[in-house]
Amino acid sequence: MAKVKKAVIPAAGLGTRVLPASKVMPKEMLPIVDRPAIQYIVEEAVKSGIEDILIITNRGKGLIEDHFDHAIELEQRLEASGKLDDLDEVRRITDLANITFVRQKETKGLGHAVLCAKSFVGDEPFAVLYGDDVIIGEDPACAQLCRAFEAHGKGVLGIHEVSAEAIGKYSSVKIEPTGDGCFYVSDMIEKPKPDEVMSPYAILGRVVLTPDIFPILEQTAPGAGGEIQLTDAMKMLARTVGMTGVPFTGTRYDMGNKLGILQANCEVALSRPDLGEEFKAYLKELVATF
Ligand code: UTP
Repeated sequence: MAKVKKAVIPAAGLGTRVLPASKVMPKEMLPIVDRPAIQYIVEEAVKSGIEDILIITNRGKGLIEDHFDHAIELEQRLEASGKLDDLDEVRRITDLANITFVRQKETKGLGHAVLCAKSFVGDEPFAVLYGDDVIIGEDPACAQLCRAFEAHGKGVLGIHEVSAEAIGKYSSVKIEPTGDGCFYVSDMIEKPKPDEVMSPYAILGRVVLTPDIFPILEQTAPGAGGEIQLTDAMKMLARTVGMTGVPFTGTRYDMGNKLGILQANCEVALSRPDLGEEFKAYLKELVATF
């Protein structure tokens, strides 16, 4: 089975759940401690063996492009003032991967955003890393899905068990264990009502697809929320040839909602060798006053 070397990061949503922060700046550029969310996602893709990345943008295109480009004046200043660690970090971002950009001209949903990647993808399998879902773990989530693609040869969904109250916000999948820690997925539903839930497993943040998805997406009518839903297209694949579900390890932070942003910043700061101890002491003192 072909190795997955391409990735698509949709980052063109309106981010209405994190307004007004996302009014001008894409939510994917919101920081977790000192890096924008999208940098964690690009780094996860690179650690997973991805070589070419397409970022789907809309507003704030310049900001995202600039972040992954050289900042000559800044680099010269850091070099002149001997701040070589900062210089290395700034340059490292530019060299992370071969990143290109395409603009989604209308915000018609995640399915439509993925369709914008058709010519970039060509005839190869590709990973989709949702631009507002940061997943941090030893074994990159994207790599776990790519391995499952190579093992099973079908499109792969990153899945996670969620509570009965939360499942209605996600896509619920119909699953059977395959015996190797993965699941066979034969159906799915976007934003199910309580009596439509197929299992407590939801699709979260990462999928691996083949170009077979594009003709389906081209025929997919707007679904939940009036948007072209990726889930509606993947459902056709699940029902016909089946897909593979991978309950990935790692901690997921939803940068598309306010609590998720706070959790990401707290937990990543606590885990950082340069900040963790000081931040923990500060938090303990702060919490004691509430
Ligand atoms: P979301 O549904 O979480 O993003 O899409 P949203 O539409 O910005 O969310 P609201 O407005 O707060 O409800 C998941 C990912 O897909 C991208 C988003 O940027 C996010 O990273 N997306 C979504 C697109 O690229 N294009 C779209 O038309 C919709």
